[in-house]
This record gives sequence, structure tokens and C-alpha cells, in this order.
Amino acid sequence: MTTSENRAAPTAAGTGADTSGLGEIERGAAPVDADHKRMINARADVNQLLPLKYHWAWEKYLAGCANHWMPTEVAMQADIALWRTPGGLTDDERLMLTRNLGFFATAESLVANNIVLAVYRHLTNPECRQYLLRQSFEEAVHTHTFQYVCESLGLDEGELFNKYRTVPSITEKDAWALRYTQALSDPDFRTGTPEADRAFLRDLIAFYVVFEGMWFYTGFAQILALGRRNKMVGIAEQYQYILRDESIHLNFGIDCINQIKIENPHLWTAEFVAEIRGMLHQACELEVAYARDTMPRGMLGLTAGSCEQYLRFITDRRAEQIGIAPLFGETDNPFPWMSEAMDLRKEKNFFETRVTEYRTGGSLDWD
Ligand SMILES: [Fe+2]
Ligand SMILES: [Fe+2]
Repeated sequence: MTTSENRAAPTAAGTGADTSGLGEIERGAAPVDADHKRMINARADVNQLLPLKYHWAWEKYLAGCANHWMPTEVAMQADIALWRTPGGLTDDERLMLTRNLGFFATAESLVANNIVLAVYRHLTNPECRQYLLRQSFEEAVHTHTFQYVCESLGLDEGELFNKYRTVPSITEKDAWALRYTQALSDPDFRTGTPEADRAFLRDLIAFYVVFEGMWFYTGFAQILALGRRNKMVGIAEQYQYILRDESIHLNFGIDCINQIKIENPHLWTAEFVAEIRGMLHQACELEVAYARDTMPRGMLGLTAGSCEQYLRFITDRRAEQIGIAPLFGETDNPFPWMSEAMDLRKEKNFFETRVTEYRTGGSLDWD
């Protein structure tokens, strides 16, 4: 039997040790055994990537890198012309567009903050952290997208980036999510007790399942509905790239939550499940209010009612993905064309329309 097999799985839970993975280096110890890796409460000292345990996390890191894009590659001339043409867009379309952009403009940085200030610290697995580093950059690219759209269309940046203060349904959504980051923000917060581990799970569910998995989808549907009518096609293209990134973020979050459940079944009590169902229900209601604020009269074949049905459908799917029974029993997707927008084969063709090439290492100018 090797020394490595003799060693107990390196868990920091209940030892009073730092649970962010910053334990002391164990000098002369046997190599890390993949079986000893844990999602939370593991000792990871220098955050050693290999040997991999969670191949799904590494695969998502590779998929994220393969999908790399930048907003400045997307031509905006058609959008600028349409935006400036009187009557080019209806008043309803302009209201939806500015509120939609306003929500995303700060939602992306709110999500990035949660990754860097809350999730990374407590998710002690190196391959998951490798993905989080990639995801953080993608969130920066998404925030950049809204800066680029704002600049291209000549929008009032003070107004656009303040929608989270001026549109009540956006304020409510952001305030709801921020509470979960704040719950982990105490520098003395440590995972390792059932109460603290559940607080961490709540944050993962609030951001990956609700924010990225539910709340982004009304916004995607609105912009892609415009794009399907050949309106604001540059923004629609950017949203399609964001949607592709977000579907990987969502699936990463779902895999993390389910793996933590497998490793810590004691956390997933009936009481906790009831609480999560309450969170999903509330999140669905907040999004329905947002749909009303952005489309008070309905447009482009979308109504607040069809958005509500879509949200109920999405909420049920997300609940099932984390092993929770559907909340609404909604089985009809009123926007089946959204699945087409997420079809990777189509998006691959779509990517061939790129307007610029990446500069490779050989072409960089160091002078
Ligand atoms: Fe994002
Ligand atoms: Fe995201």
C-alpha cells in the first residue's frame, strides 16, 4: 500500500483549517490522488490541476476556449442605420431594446463579481477553478459587448448602465441575486458546516440556475425575435454568441451542484429542497415582472403572457436538472425557435461569417 493510499482524503471540513484550499504545502507527501479531490472543503494548497477528477469541468473549459469571440468582430453598420432611421423601430421595440440592454449591461458584471468574490474562493477543485477563470473572462467579454453596443449606437451610457436603478423589475432582480453573494462576503465565512455549505449551494443556484439559466432567457428571446425579423442583426448575432457561452455556464453550474449533492447528500434535506423551490418560484415571478416592464404591450409575436409560459417551462426544466420536481408542469415551449438558436451546428455555420481574424502569436507586433 502506498503512502498516498494510507493518507486520509484531504478534507479541511471541521478542522478549523482554511476551506478556500489555501492549506500549507505538505512537504514530501505522495502525489495527489484524483480520488481525494473534492468539490468543496478540500485542501488544494497550490491548486494542482492534474490528475483530473472531474473531466466534465475540463471539457467545459476546452469548449469555452473553442468558442472564443470578441464583440468588436461583429459589424454594427446595419444596426446603427436602423437605430438612426425615424420609424425604423417602433416605440415598443426601442423601449424593449434599451431596457433589455440595460439589464444585461450590469448583469454580466454582477455575475462576474459573484464568480470572483464568492464561487472561486469556496469551490476548492482545481479543474473547476480552471473553468471559473475562463468563465470570468467570458463575463468580461459580455460586459464589453454592452459597452461596444452603447458606443456603436451612441446611446446615453449613464442612462443605459443605470437601468438597474431606474427600472424597478431590474432593481428587484439584481437585489435578489446580490443577497446571495453578500451572504458569502464575510471574510470569516468558511464552508465546512452544513449551514455554510448550504449557503454556498444557495449562491450557486441563485447565479447558475436562476440568473444565468432563467433570467437571461427572456432577454435572449426578445433580441433573437428582433433578429428573426432582420432588425438589429449585429446585436442579435452578439446575443447568439452570449447565449452559447451562457449555456455552458449553466451546464457547468448544474454539474457542480449535482456533484456537491453526490458528495454531501446530508445537505439536500426536504427542508432545503422546499427552500430551493421557493427560490425558483420567486425568481420566475421576478422575471415575469421584468417581461411586463420591457414589453408592456407585447411585440414581435411575444407577449407578457407567452413570456410567462416560457419562463414556467424554463423553470421546470432547471428544477429537473438539479433533481427537483417541476413547479408548474408546463410542458409546452411557446418559443420553439429558441432551441434552433441554441443549435450548435447552426452556430458553427454562423461563426463562419466572422468579419475579422484573430491575430496569432506569429503575427503579433512587439515593436
Ligand atoms: Fe455572461
Ligand atoms: Fe454567464
